[in-house]
This record gives sequence, structure tokens and C-alpha cells, in this order.
Amino acid sequence: MISLQNQIILITGASSGIGTACARVFANTGAKLILAARRLERLQELAETLKEEFNTEVYLIQLDVRDRAAVEAAISSLPPAWADIDILINNAGLSRGLDKLHEGSFTDWEEMIDTNIKGLLYLTRYVVPGMVKRDRGHVVNIGSIAGHQTYPNGNVYCGTKAAVRAISEGLKLDLLGTPIRVTSVDPGMVETEFSDVRFHGDTERAKKVYQGVTPLTPDDIADVIFFCVTRSPHVNINEIVLMPVDQASATLVNRRT
Ligand SMILES: NC(=O)c1ccc[n+]([C@@H]2O[C@H](COP(=O)([O-])OP(=O)(O)OC[C@H]3O[C@@H](n4cnc5c(N)ncnc54)[C@H](OP(=O)(O)O)[C@@H]3O)[C@@H](O)[C@H]2O)c1
Repeated sequence: MISLQNQIILITGASSGIGTACARVFANTGAKLILAARRLERLQELAETLKEEFNTEVYLIQLDVRDRAAVEAAISSLPPAWADIDILINNAGLSRGLDKLHEGSFTDWEEMIDTNIKGLLYLTRYVVPGMVKRDRGHVVNIGSIAGHQTYPNGNVYCGTKAAVRAISEGLKLDLLGTPIRVTSVDPGMVETEFSDVRFHGDTERAKKVYQGVTPLTPDDIADVIFFCVTRSPHVNINEIVLMPVDQASATLVNRRT
């Protein structure tokens, strides 16, 4: 296991769910954390807690990953003590809607494509050249089982996660000959704000997604990411697919109620 002491870890989507859980796990390792998301107040609260609990050094970026110029500015203006990012966790992402393709919303599609694919690409494009120059680094992309199996009405979200899977594979191929590692972590059902966002704030509908099942928690995913980034430097974990015991595929879920 390698030490994360003083390593600089950039986590996108750190204001909620899996991203927040990652921040908490890495805060306890001596790593320095760059936390990015649009909701700055949430990041500020999290940073305060991490400083109090673990004395973690934290740098916050209010960032919409869909805005390429903003991503470029955020990365290029990092203070020298924060600029040499060792680990990039491309976690920011969302699903919007659950509609038949021929009835889908253009706004929902654009938001998913711009965040899940283009946002992830922008971060990667602006951060990885520094990793190549420094001859060190690890990119962790959060995919989904939706990138492995398309489910009814999941069309565009599944398409974005299939793209993430292909992009992770492509990045690994293109970084051959460098020591930089690339990992895709692809979860099934995790209880976060994900379903609230998917159903545009319809909390009742969102709750039903997790009714009668024991879903994965954000901590379960953070734990797996921690495992991937702390292997010996010659080990690359390409892809991890994990789901709750109560889930067998994107659509087959064991509900007890
Ligand atoms: N929950 C699941 O069942 C599940 C399963 C498989 C994969 N995933 C993937 O896991 C990742 C994290 O999702 P989660 O479940 O933790 O959901 P979540 O609780 O809704 O968190 C999503 C995070 O992404 C950020 N985000 C969304 N759009 C953004 C944008 N344009 N710019 C910057 N940040 C943005 C949000 O921050 P702001 O709103 O503050 O910007 C938030 O911090 C996503 O990529 C999701 O597709 C989730």
C-alpha cells in the first residue's frame, strides 16, 4: 500500500454523495484535497469539518465542469503549492429524467452529456498533461453499471456512462509508457442525492428507488477508490464493477417490501 501523505487529490462533485465520502476518506490520510463543485457553501462546510476532524489542508474551487473556460482557468490558476495534482477523481455527474428516448427532454440530455462526458474530458485534458510532465499520477473516473447495461428509459444516461467507460479505456491506452494509472469505478445503486436530481427534486419518487433494498453507501464507493489508489505503483486496477447484494442487474432488484 502506498502512502497518500502530502499527495494532492482533486475531487469533482465533492459537495454531495460519493464525492463527499471520498473527501472524508482521503482527509484522514495526510493528503491535500482540492474540492470542486458548484455549491460552494456545501464545500465550505465540508472543508471546516475536515479541518477540525483531521487537520486536512483543503483548497476549494467553485466550478461548473460543463464550462470549459472555467475548468481551464481553475486548473491553470492553482497556487504553486496546489498545482501538482497527483490524483484526479472525476466524480461530478448526474442523471436527468427517465423517459423513452423518443419522448426525452433535450435539456436533460444536454445537461448529462455536458457534465458526464464533456466535463470529465475537460478536467482530464487540463490535469493529465501535468501528470505526464511530472511522471506520476492517477485518474479515477466514476462510471456506472449503466455503462455496461442499458436499461429501459435510461438511454442517454447509459450512453454517457458507456462513453466514460470507453474514455477510461482510451486514456489507459494513450498513457501506456508513462507511470500514470487509470481506473474506472462503476457502481450499481448507491443512496445519494442522485435520484432526487434525476427526478428534478421529486423526493417521494426518489425514495422509492431505494425502498425495501439495502443500497450501497457513498462510503462503500470511497472505500473502493481508496483501495485502487493505494496499490503498489506497478498495479493498475482498470475497472471495478460493484453493486449491492440486493441488486443483480440494472433492472433486477430484490425488494423486501
Ligand atoms: N448514486 C448512484 O446510484 C450512482 C450509481 C452509479 C454511478 N453514479 C455516479 O456517481 C457520481 C456521483 O454521483 P452521486 O451518486 O454522489 O450523486 P449526488 O449526490 O447527486 O452528487 C453529484 C455531485 O456532482 C456534482 N455536479 C453535478 N453537476 C455538476 C457540474 N455541472 N459541475 C460540477 N459539479 C457537478 C454535484 O455538485 P453541485 O451540484 O454542487 O455542482 C454533486 O456534488 C456521478 O458521476 C454518478 O453518475 C452514481
